[in-house]
Amino acid sequence: MKKIISVSLGPAKYDYTFESEFLGQQFIIRRTGTDGSREKAAEKLLEYDKEADAIGIGNVKFPYAFTKGFLAKKHDDQIRNLGKKIQTPVTIGNALRNVSFEWALRFINHKHPDYFKNAKVLFLSGMSSYPIAKVMSEYTDNLTFADALIENNISKLIHSLKGLEKYARGTHEILEWIPGKRLRSSVVPLQKWNRYVLSKAMQKATVIVVPAYQFYEYLKDTSIEELGGKTIITSTVYDDRIDFLKSRGVDVIIDTTPKILERVVAPNVIEALILAALDKKSDTVHPDDLLEIISMQKMDPRIIYPSGQEKRINRFAFVIHPLSKEFLKKDKAVDFISGFTPPAFLDAVEKVVAYAPPWVYSKVTGIKSPTGAEAEGWLITVGGTPRQMLAHDPEFTYKRLLQAARMARRMGAQIMGLGAFTKVVGDAGVTVAKKADIPITTGNSYSASGALWAAADAVRRMGLISIEPGRKIAAKTMVMGASGAIGSVCCRLLAKAFNEVILAGRNTAKLLALQQSILEETPDVKIRITTNADRYLPEMDVIVTATSGAGKKILDITRVKPGCVITDVARPLDLSPEDVAKRPDVLVIESGEIELPGNPEMKNIGLPPKVVYACLAETIVLALEGRYEIFTVGRGIEWEKVREIYKMGLKHGMKLAAISGVNGVFSDEDIFKVRELALAARKNTWQNGKKDSGPENHPEKHPGGSA
Ligand SMILES: NC(=O)c1ccc[n+]([C@@H]2O[C@H](COP(=O)([O-])OP(=O)(O)OC[C@H]3O[C@@H](n4cnc5c(N)ncnc54)[C@H](OP(=O)(O)O)[C@@H]3O)[C@@H](O)[C@H]2O)c1
Repeated sequence: MKKIISVSLGPAKYDYTFESEFLGQQFIIRRTGTDGSREKAAEKLLEYDKEADAIGIGNVKFPYAFTKGFLAKKHDDQIRNLGKKIQTPVTIGNALRNVSFEWALRFINHKHPDYFKNAKVLFLSGMSSYPIAKVMSEYTDNLTFADALIENNISKLIHSLKGLEKYARGTHEILEWIPGKRLRSSVVPLQKWNRYVLSKAMQKATVIVVPAYQFYEYLKDTSIEELGGKTIITSTVYDDRIDFLKSRGVDVIIDTTPKILERVVAPNVIEALILAALDKKSDTVHPDDLLEIISMQKMDPRIIYPSGQEKRINRFAFVIHPLSKEFLKKDKAVDFISGFTPPAFLDAVEKVVAYAPPWVYSKVTGIKSPTGAEAEGWLITVGGTPRQMLAHDPEFTYKRLLQAARMARRMGAQIMGLGAFTKVVGDAGVTVAKKADIPITTGNSYSASGALWAAADAVRRMGLISIEPGRKIAAKTMVMGASGAIGSVCCRLLAKAFNEVILAGRNTAKLLALQQSILEETPDVKIRITTNADRYLPEMDVIVTATSGAGKKILDITRVKPGCVITDVARPLDLSPEDVAKRPDVLVIESGEIELPGNPEMKNIGLPPKVVYACLAETIVLALEGRYEIFTVGRGIEWEKVREIYKMGLKHGMKLAAISGVNGVFSDEDIFKVRELALAARKNTWQNGKKDSGPENHPEKHPGGSA
């Protein structure tokens, strides 16, 4: 039986002896800790020389090849001097450690594509985790290194690999600012302010890389506040370390050291095993040999979920904006002025806020799909109200959206959605998507899907139109703003479900082109176009209004057929509360909002708890699905995408929120009341789908007004 001795500079309390098989050979493996004493370690090495088949030296801190400075040299010299005196192969496990660091990250990224994409990664010691940092930089440039802070008590974090390399060479400005400082090799007690800086950096990170060496020293001041919900990358994760991280709410632990024996052993032990099994000297093991053994032995890195359940939190950002200057009063950031805001002053505030840089309005947490995937994100607000955005050229809004995209990326978001009016401006997200270095979606596919989902639900609950499974619905529908991004896809979808669709807009050429392309897709639908929507209102059973008229009067509700279901998708709404109040016999719903799965928490966005706008829901669905791609941009929404996002939404537990109108959620009772009023009105004043009074409603006054 071959013998492996691991002399560790770590605590003796973790010593073990056990037997195991490796590469078809029997081994006895013993660890002996020296509680940090190098002298004792030297004694042990000499003691076990020739007695063991291979010796590993553990718990030494190793800065990597990029350091020409004294630290690397100091360690190297000490180890080499010790090694030279003895004849048994000795290893510090560095070759395996390097290979397994890289392998672990590539393995995880292969198994869970985009796992590290734009992750915000904090390295407690970039110097000892340099190989991880190098590989990680291929997936994200959101890297932060706390070396100067933790080891030199300098209140600065380093934010790039280049910066770390300069720091390691002693040429970084951090060291120049503090003459006389030299790089240290261990954790120093932090001043209060530095502890605060580190705590904040940990809270902001999504992944924290912790050296195995001095593991507890690095984490001694942490609580659930710093580590809760994080992914920790470290190596040699003994059970006590799992318990420690679990008690601090860590979601995922990635142990870069493969577990190939029945118990966790450090890389120096595994490398010593390989040397002994292959009868090699330490300097004759090539990384290729290690890679071959790693793949032969299926030495995968360990992914540990302390809660027992697989966890993965994907991140999104979503841009919102104040809908009007009145809305600004409710925002905390401008709250201080809300008490004394004469209209003229509020006008000025609206203008000033439009120029303000984007800021985070709310963090969103707790979204959990039934698939187990989780999402969290940030609502970023750009200050421009629709009025302000319309008052400037599109570049004004693009600039702010690109600022928001940069901010989102820095915070670790993997996809960003454009809310309401921000995507109406200019080319509906195309320019922003081209220039931003984070995938962009307007959310319009799900907005269209949500609007029709809500309309279908409302029509079913009103029960005034007969719906036969497998057949087109014999009813008349109209879309206002038909040539717009949302409007046109609503037309396409309504054409598939209903007998008749009227496309209402302002530009006849656009409407004709749309009509043509819908007829190619859906030849059996009856389509008409109009630039005078009001004339058709008395006939319509379902109306979707999706204009960007920004509050202008779009339709005359007094002319609408009793019992008509109007879905108002526009923001600001196309129908004012005063208009809606005029027709209690018409059901006006405010498009289809979506109820999120899990227990989402965020600041008030003017909707009931758990409920969000469909465009925000699209961004969240894409995050949950890990689809970090430009999904919907531009005005040509593809109805296949509308269907795809609808299905993806169902998979992730999205529900149509209770349908609501200007006065809030409609109960079954409310809908019944509208229905009764509609039936009564139809009986009294409406015959055959036309109002029986008022000359303006008679078809002969409007050629082409009835079919
Ligand atoms: N509820 C939600 O979740 C949600 C999500 C996304 C968007 N929205 C809202 O939905 C609306 C449409 O968005 P979109 O992206 O489809 O915008 P869009 O592509 O710009 O389309 C707007 C349409 O409205 C028409 N229009 C503009 N001003 C008008 C006016 N004064 N009178 C009549 N028609 C007018 C335009 O006609 P022309 O072609 O003649 O210019 C165009 O057909 C916006 O209000 C937006 O804020 C809501």
